[in-house]
Amino acid sequence: MKIVESIESFSAIRQRWKNETIAFVPTMGALHGGHLSLMEKAKSVGSKVIVSIYVNPLQFGPNEDFQRYPRTREADLELCESLGVDLVFYPDTQALHPKGWVSLTQVVPPIELVNQFCGLSRPGHFTGVATIVLKLFQLVQPQFAIFGEKDAQQFAVIRRMVSDLNLPVQIVPAPTVREPDGLAKSSRNSYLSSASDRHQARLLFRLLATIQELYKQGMETTDEALKLAMESVLNEGLYPDFQLEYLGAVHRETFLPTEILDEDTRILVAAQIGNVRLIDNTLINEPLVLPDRDGALMQLTV
Ligand code: PAF
Repeated sequence: MKIVESIESFSAIRQRWKNETIAFVPTMGALHGGHLSLMEKAKSVGSKVIVSIYVNPLQFGPNEDFQRYPRTREADLELCESLGVDLVFYPDTQALHPKGWVSLTQVVPPIELVNQFCGLSRPGHFTGVATIVLKLFQLVQPQFAIFGEKDAQQFAVIRRMVSDLNLPVQIVPAPTVREPDGLAKSSRNSYLSSASDRHQARLLFRLLATIQELYKQGMETTDEALKLAMESVLNEGLYPDFQLEYLGAVHRETFLPTEILDEDTRILVAAQIGNVRLIDNTLINEPLVLPDRDGALMQLTV
């Protein structure tokens, strides 16, 4: 597996691979089982898999966790190697932004995609994401790029950027991977330091599963379902550190809020558990598949 830090060395290899089908997995490192599924997806569509690891300062707000974001270089490289990744692009900020990253050309996603959900509490976040992803696409020139469905709003922003700017890359979704109790795998789960925080983090999954259940029982109005799910899940115990940021429903294609629940609805949730911010989502009909203790996959409800 090649590990490349400079743009010059990367471009030389990319030139040699000009006849390959490149499947690209952009990441910020701290790789976990969720990334694993992205890489497996990449292997299934490309003849060469390129992973980038770069903690992108542009997508973190001034009071966010850029400094403490987990950086686990050796473990990340080992994991990539074990999965048969062909090249890890590991640039630093000096390599990517030699003129500094405070003032530069940026990609601003359409307002209707970012003036809601994560975009409200993280102003500028999706501009930071779109800017770095476009820059990486320009360098890597992949035919396929794999993004996790766990970051549903990010997925919608990238897909829209590719369509609006006619980028010659196909965006491939990879499903969310969950812990046995339903918690979606995320690099930020490593911040959940106490058993109580870990327990409260599971409420995100339970809210999603409850709304799925209400829909199955015939509930059709978004407001009603969200309200009932919040009442039934959040009132059943004491969750002192759990602060719901949003619980909402959007159309799976347009990512615009929807008042009626139907098979095209995606449910989204974000919450703070102490000072850890987590997000999750699911399609209304999607089976929430969890590994059992032996690692086999099984389907679980609330
Ligand atoms: O999803 C992520 O890890 C990041 O937002 C991404 C796409 C690598 C851009 O920095």
